[in-house]
Amino acid sequence: MDRRRRRPAKELAALGLALAGFAGASALAALGDAPIRGMLWVAKDADPARALGSTPTECLRIPADPALAAKVEVGRAAFRTPVLLGGQAARAGINCETCHRDGRSNPDFLFPGVSGAPGTADVTNSLFSTHRGNGVDDPKPIPDLSGPKARLKISQVPAERKLEPFIHGLITEEFDGPEPTPAVLEGLADYVRALDPAACPAKAREPLTVALLMTDARRALKAAQVQAAAGDTPTAVVMVASARSRLGLIDERFADPALARPRADLRAADRRLADAQDALRDRRPDVPRKLAAWLAGSKRLEAELSARQSASLFDPARLAQAAKRRLPG
Ligand code: HEC
Repeated sequence: MDRRRRRPAKELAALGLALAGFAGASALAALGDAPIRGMLWVAKDADPARALGSTPTECLRIPADPALAAKVEVGRAAFRTPVLLGGQAARAGINCETCHRDGRSNPDFLFPGVSGAPGTADVTNSLFSTHRGNGVDDPKPIPDLSGPKARLKISQVPAERKLEPFIHGLITEEFDGPEPTPAVLEGLADYVRALDPAACPAKAREPLTVALLMTDARRALKAAQVQAAAGDTPTAVVMVASARSRLGLIDERFADPALARPRADLRAADRRLADAQDALRDRRPDVPRKLAAWLAGSKRLEAELSARQSASLFDPARLAQAAKRRLPG
């Protein structure tokens, strides 16, 4: 057995300290010695430019039916939201997309006490779950959710509704998360069903950029607008949390003091989203205005951040250097 796996509690305690600021929706906090969170679950010998500087392209077929397409957007955002999960996973900033990157797999994933070989995870591990910990080390390869449906274990025939109870168990039992809203659960199942190998772009990977993450944030906010208009406040709050966590992924790459100005503007944008979440929870009438104003200003913020991207950890060479300084051990 891998030596790492015998001391999960100690390692996680150390992680917990490093990551204390990441609990809940506050994704913009400092992070101990690891310049970016993703370094904590990437295999040490992985090429950082590939594992952290690029991302798989998404194989998503957006349904023609607008109602179903809206559900898929809810699921897409929820898939990228750490607060959906609970306990250790949420504290570490882990979300569905950490393991199933852009709906695929993650050959570089390696989390102390959870993985065996890179690209595997034990989702019945007591580290993530107080419910299902089976006391057995049985890490399994992270499946590619965008592969042929016939190769996957859980039926995705929509009428069979098999994914919903499976994902419900993942969230509430494997990952100790709070009960998801019905719209979040349905959306996640609809998102997974909309992943389709025939929809894969020609290029398997693309560089991870400010623009990609800002596009995710905007899509999540648009889903928040739809849910807020439909009166589903709890789901809208999760959608805004998803947008905020994407901003958090930009923020951690803009820590260089030379980038203080764009980072301050990014943080101000995050605070406006926190305000929008409060307004949603209080059911204040200015919610639509706040969300629309944020979206309207987001392109300018994106341009400001993109202009400085090459001086940030979005730059592959800077990223590789930073990866050398990552947490020891
Ligand atoms: C820590 C890594 C990790 C995270 C986080 C994670 N998964 Fe998975 N997922 C796995 C692994 C490993 C399996 C395979 C389990 C097995 O084979 O028993 C799996 C299996 C699945 C399957 C079944 C695939 C099949 O064969 O039919 C679905 C669907 C799925 N995950 C969706 C999700 C969703 C939705 C989330 C977020 C709520 C999520 N996963 C979070 C690692 C992860």
